[in-house]
Amino acid sequence: MRNLVFIGAPGSGKGTQSARLKDSKGFFHVSTGDLLRAEVAKGSDLGRELKSVMDAGKLVSDDLVVKLLRANIDLSSHSYIFDGYPRNITQAQVLDKEILSDFNYIAIYFKVDTEKLVERLTNRRVTKDGKHIYNLLTNPPQKEGVCDVTGQELIQRDDDREEVIRKRMSVFGDTVGPVLEFYKQKGILKEIDAQKPVDEVFSEIENFL
Ligand code: AP5
Repeated sequence: MRNLVFIGAPGSGKGTQSARLKDSKGFFHVSTGDLLRAEVAKGSDLGRELKSVMDAGKLVSDDLVVKLLRANIDLSSHSYIFDGYPRNITQAQVLDKEILSDFNYIAIYFKVDTEKLVERLTNRRVTKDGKHIYNLLTNPPQKEGVCDVTGQELIQRDDDREEVIRKRMSVFGDTVGPVLEFYKQKGILKEIDAQKPVDEVFSEIENFL
């Protein structure tokens, strides 16, 4: 199975589809956002520094993210979904030349309208580790505030406030162009209409596997 690189604005459904592919197709999933939030949860000096960057909707430094990523993947025995990495052309080049150079992969771009994203993210609720994702409008938990699968409390992410969401979107809009162009030039860019319901988006991705 080839590796998948998910590119998409905040709230476009990368995490939701990653979870489904992990469960049904055996992919491993690495989300740089989850790795960074786990670092924040440790309450270290580094964690506090990261939190201030993330709560402002900005990007964390490339060096730090790449280091975290490398420490959490083993490509020799598993196919991975890269969720939230790369975020800019530098990260795309590092991934291509240093991490995935010996491996087959495609990049999938999740396209969704901005206003839809704000609605999705303000209504998102997740477990603390980010592994279970709900939506108060489209996929609510059976019991309010509780994960159906693990029984854990559901929380709203600190960066899911509207002003931070808009900043994250603006950062995404400023950096995604060269990343898409890079994958297009390599002939490995696939686009999906991520505005469709979750099952339909999943089927579109399945067609590329
Ligand atoms: P990260 O955690 O990666 O956040 P993001 O990319 O902004 O993406 P999200 O997790 O918000 O959205 P998603 O696309 O996974 O959507 P989801 O499936 O949850 O990054 C957070 C921060 O960390 C960054 O801002 C940055 O500071 C830092 N960071 C991370 N990576 C970095 C990097 N590489 N370099 C530097 N800094 C980095 O879905 C959203 C909601 O919509 C859910 O409620 C879901 O139920 C619902 N939903 C999903 N799909 C559908 C559908 N098809 N129809 C209806 N509802 C849907």
